[in-house]
Amino acid sequence: MANFQQEIEKHQADTMDREVFGTRLGFVLAAVGSAVGLGNMWRFSYTAAEGGGAAFVFLYIVLTLLIGIPIMLAEMAAGRAGRLSPIGALKKAGGPAWAPMGFVYVSAGLLILSYYSVIAGWVVRYSFQAITGGFPADAGAYFGEISAGPTAALFHLGFMVVTILIVTKGVEKGIERASSIMMPALFVILVGLAIWASTLDGAGEGYAYYLTPSWSDILDGPTFASAAAQAFFSLSLGMGAMLTFASYLSKDENLNREAAVISLADFGVAFIAGLVVFPIVFALGLQNDVSESTVGALFIALPGAFASMPAGRIVGSLFFLALLVGAVTSAISLLEVVVASVIDEFGWERKKAALAAGSLIAVLGLASAWDTDILGLIDAIAGELLLMIGGLGMAILVGYVWKDARTELERGATPLFRALLPIVFFFLRFVAPPIVIFVIYDRLLNVLNVIQTSF
Ligand code: TRP
Repeated sequence: MANFQQEIEKHQADTMDREVFGTRLGFVLAAVGSAVGLGNMWRFSYTAAEGGGAAFVFLYIVLTLLIGIPIMLAEMAAGRAGRLSPIGALKKAGGPAWAPMGFVYVSAGLLILSYYSVIAGWVVRYSFQAITGGFPADAGAYFGEISAGPTAALFHLGFMVVTILIVTKGVEKGIERASSIMMPALFVILVGLAIWASTLDGAGEGYAYYLTPSWSDILDGPTFASAAAQAFFSLSLGMGAMLTFASYLSKDENLNREAAVISLADFGVAFIAGLVVFPIVFALGLQNDVSESTVGALFIALPGAFASMPAGRIVGSLFFLALLVGAVTSAISLLEVVVASVIDEFGWERKKAALAAGSLIAVLGLASAWDTDILGLIDAIAGELLLMIGGLGMAILVGYVWKDARTELERGATPLFRALLPIVFFFLRFVAPPIVIFVIYDRLLNVLNVIQTSF
């Protein structure tokens, strides 16, 4: 009996000793690192092209403000209050009935990282190619060759090893340190590239397509839904990544300021990436390549462009390096959600948890490395549908169920934000749920459509 008591006390002491970020800036950079990734460049550019360019960008901004930021605040509040990863934090805020939602989060993390890492593997491959010899003239054929099969699997596994190693090192020494170095580097490279792109011949046309919305596209249901899903994916919402990072925060952090900084940085990077991609695409007349070839768009359009432009090899190398940096810091956050859950739920030590979770994800990813259609399908299921379901759960939990939500959000907040809190709750209660339910319905249809057309 006494032993049992000791065990409980030890367990409590362990949870008290939860790892924390070393500095406030460290948390912000890690969260920005999570948000900024392949989603901003690879996914943003092709979904924007599919959605009519500027109309999509417009919807993306509006939806980030209306539902993205409120849900980010909700996730961060639940994580900071619970000081636990998704499963435990949701149970603490809403009761045991919310545990299954936590499992949805963890499964979404597993599935997203499984294909995310395959794409990151392509990026590694392209970086080597750019640095060592430049790209072959037929970028489409090249992409077809390397995007699926044994080499894709190999690069995917290599990328997973790096991700596991960083997460093994823990919150401060691994995640925080990696993000603090890599995020500023990415930003500098990207701004440089945007300046370079503005000197290209087709730049004006590219900007026009990117920045002048047409109303008919804005009112299009699927465009609206895919802009919402992209906002979630890009901000790392709907599966507990922001929640988990916030669980490593000290109590009095100002969440509203952090959420604003993170969203702005994420949007900024996506926007600047568009300023790089669209001028290049229009300079070479590649618009159809981009909107038709979905997951491969960036990898087919850009290398071709880099191959045929002055200084293309240097610029191309830098571009893929920036992409790789974004991919690493995002992958860390996806793995961290799963690892933190295993640590919190099973009491495993970090190393073992990272190795086990990472290996499982690496194996799952082999399916996406084998066939880009499978990759596209898992992206439609986990990267869109599951995230929206997770977002709906979060809006309901914090908007209606969790009684201390308001107190938690007020902690550390500025007076101005306190005054604005009723608006945040209004959005969580009445704006987010109907919008997200529509998006869930539309994305469900999209999953069925993907299955029909690809298989
Ligand atoms: N936001 C990242 C990107 O844009 C990807 C990502 C990391 C993510 N963590 C996430 C997406 C959690 C959804 C949920 O590349």
